[in-house]
Amino acid sequence: MEKYRITGGIPLSGAVDISGAKNAVVAILPAVLLSDEPCRIENIPHISDVTTTLKILEKLGAKVAYVDPHTVEIDPRTVTSNEVDHELACKMRASYYFIGALLGKTGSARVPMPGGCWFGERPIDLHIKGFHALGAESIPQEDNVIEMHANQLMGNSVYLDTVSVGATVNIMLAAARARGMTIIENAAKEPHIVDLANFLIRMGADVRGAGTDVIKIRGVQQLSGAVYSIIPDQIEAGTYMAMAAATGGDVLVRNVIPKHLESITTKLDEMGARIEEMDDAVRVRCEGRLRGCNIKTMPHPGFPTDMQPQIAVLLSIAEGEGTITEGVWDNRFRYTEELIRMGAKIEVNGKRAVFQGVDHLTATNVKAMDLRAGAAMVIAGLVAQGVTEIEDIRYIERGYEDIIEKLRRLGAQVERVTDEA
Ligand code: EPZ
Repeated sequence: MEKYRITGGIPLSGAVDISGAKNAVVAILPAVLLSDEPCRIENIPHISDVTTTLKILEKLGAKVAYVDPHTVEIDPRTVTSNEVDHELACKMRASYYFIGALLGKTGSARVPMPGGCWFGERPIDLHIKGFHALGAESIPQEDNVIEMHANQLMGNSVYLDTVSVGATVNIMLAAARARGMTIIENAAKEPHIVDLANFLIRMGADVRGAGTDVIKIRGVQQLSGAVYSIIPDQIEAGTYMAMAAATGGDVLVRNVIPKHLESITTKLDEMGARIEEMDDAVRVRCEGRLRGCNIKTMPHPGFPTDMQPQIAVLLSIAEGEGTITEGVWDNRFRYTEELIRMGAKIEVNGKRAVFQGVDHLTATNVKAMDLRAGAAMVIAGLVAQGVTEIEDIRYIERGYEDIIEKLRRLGAQVERVTDEA
């Protein structure tokens, strides 16, 4: 079993370069299927969700060639299948974007229910509502597979009862080549939604309003190839900012879009960290102890739910009381059990957690319960007294490129070990 072993108590210092955004690239790679020509995608992160997505594309028949570790050329013209590989689909959440992409290009899709992180119910009713609104029909399946067909997708208005990143992405993909105008109301506004829209536009799609809560897509007959570079990962950047603040370090987080980090910067500043913004970097310093504060996670531009476990570690060691109210997911506090085992004082009641800051955490063996909970365990290991070992690191490596190397370059004492047991 692979583990991380982290010796805590070392303030991080130096510079870290942020990779391409996981939640943008897992939407943009399936979108390549909509093109009638090859596409080149640059600044892709080297993470397992990307590897899985590229394997799905290859199994569908697309030609996939790495130009370098962060650049891939994909030719969708050789796609022969509309059925996504079951084993691969179950490895990640975003495999369901192939429904929108295959429907949008071929009019039919057969995709297993996705895998991914568990933090409560993760329905896909809004995705299905959108596909039905565009004229697609669901073919009932027994084995947890979604099969949809449409002779001709027709643009329509879709109101999302809940702001949903995934449903917004999937409807954009299905609408790009539908006949007529599709209007998504109450759309998600995350940076990765805008990145997908910009990629579709680069291919010749007619998409307006991405980044607002109303996105209009007028379907087009054909889409050309494109060269496109993925935006920097907002959550990876926020995670390293949190690491710098938690360890009392001084870190330059490079290759970021500061505007995407505003809610994170605001909260770290409120807790006592010093943040200096530059054009494409932020410097995070922290002398003295962080202060507790109240945080509510919300859809963008609110504080991102995907930063919730990470900021919880800072509240665990901050001075005074702090709270987190989870505004997106039903059950995203399971990781607090691991922090409590390290000495944190946390009370969870439904979607609210109350933290009484302690002056230190104590190292022990912990598990990564999901991707961002795993990142939180890394932060906890970086600040805890002693040596922390983290199991189930596969979750972490779904979304953080070269995390051990990046941390080592910041002075952390971390290693990836194989435990024979
Ligand atoms: C995306 O998940 C992200 N994943 C998640 O990040 C992130 O936590 C989430 O958006 C919110 O920002 C990817 O982009 C691959 P949603 P998604 O649809 O699309 C409800 C990470 O760490 N809902 O925006 O699955 C849902 O239950 C991952 O990178 C419905 O009710 O999230 C939730 O309460 C973890 N019906 C809310 O909407 C639906 O059909 C938001 O979910 C869909 C969603």
